[in-house]
Amino acid sequence: MRPYRIAWLPGDGIGPEVCDAARLVLDAAGFQAEYLHGDIGWEFWRTEGDALPQRTLDLLANTDCAFFGAITSKPVAEANRELAPELQGRGLTYRSPIVRMRQMLDLYICLRPCRAFRGNPLNYREGIDLVVFRENTEGMYIGVEFSKVPAEFQAVPAMKRIPPEAAISIRSVTREASRRIVEAAFDYAVKHGRRKVTAVHKANVLRVGEGLFLREVRAVAAQFPDVAYDEQLVDSMAAMLVRDAARFDVVVTTNMFGDILSDEAAELSGSLGLAGSINAGDAHCMAQAQHGSAPDIAGADRANPASLLLSAAMLLGWLGERHAKRSFLEAQAALEAAVARLLGNPATRTPDLGGVLGTRAFGELLLQRLASDPGAARGS
Ligand code: NAI
Ligand code: MG
Repeated sequence: MRPYRIAWLPGDGIGPEVCDAARLVLDAAGFQAEYLHGDIGWEFWRTEGDALPQRTLDLLANTDCAFFGAITSKPVAEANRELAPELQGRGLTYRSPIVRMRQMLDLYICLRPCRAFRGNPLNYREGIDLVVFRENTEGMYIGVEFSKVPAEFQAVPAMKRIPPEAAISIRSVTREASRRIVEAAFDYAVKHGRRKVTAVHKANVLRVGEGLFLREVRAVAAQFPDVAYDEQLVDSMAAMLVRDAARFDVVVTTNMFGDILSDEAAELSGSLGLAGSINAGDAHCMAQAQHGSAPDIAGADRANPASLLLSAAMLLGWLGERHAKRSFLEAQAALEAAVARLLGNPATRTPDLGGVLGTRAFGELLLQRLASDPGAARGS
């Protein structure tokens, strides 16, 4: 089989640093891949008016998977001010590259495990080990917004009480997209021996859109009688995560709720800088750190690469499952266990966890441990 073709998208701020650490580990693990650099991020917005240039979209379309570090984004006024003078006044608008990549590659699953590693000083709660399945292509993030009510909408009876100058954001929910994210969540529960799936929704208020999602979840749940199933309203879910996140196992929800709840769960279980994530579809998968570009520590060799390393492990798992590669699944388990061990020891942590190791040193030590500690492969 040819080596995997991987789009390498380090982006801004600490993105390149954490990507370098991930590369170090992948190379040493003997992962056969051809890495193709892609331009993405704030610099390309400023100089070309597009943070995700067409050449990067073309590159992505010709790869098997991607690694994405992080990018910087700024509010509209600042974004417009920073555009190169020759691009100003052309009506260019900044669009989120992440959302566009998810939509273009149909990466409909955003999979975000939130696990409280033993001994992590940033754990708010111990014993958390849940996985969020967030629908990744529709909902509130379809990018259809209007700065005032379009004339056509004003004819709709329900719009009569909306002031014409109101900003409007459209939220779409389809049966197909709901069904496939829910099926992915239940499949995962079965494959990974998880005991329960919780659907999070707001069908009591958003009766049509969330109602459709909920109907689909219930239909899929009925096909998996061996997996326990329950439901939570999104607001009470936010509260319950704080009280007792350890009671949740697999959580499935729509795009914006998943965005918010997965950050909350990641923070409760030891910080965004630690949790991994992948965006996956049927044909492509992108490993993505959960944190942002962290401009406050960029270039200082202080970034914790654990989030992208754990995302790399998940990508190996995704490839391993799809291509029946046992060695990839073993590499995933070994990498996750080795990261957990380093985080568990105060002497082998990065500064965000009160430690002294730099980004690169953390990556190098991880390599040593993977090479020398056979116990790592068994998990900890
Ligand atoms: P952030 O995640 O970049 O940083 C928040 C805080 O956490 C900072 O104090 C930072 O130093 C720390 N931090 C984050 N990742 C870390 C790591 N790996 N190791 C150690 N410390 C870490 O979020 P913030 O400050 O809200 O946003 C900064 C920029 O990143 C903004 O332009 C924002 O739009 C962008 N952003 C990008 C994301 C992405 O590319 N996926 C996600 C979130 C924000
Ligand atoms: Mg988010």
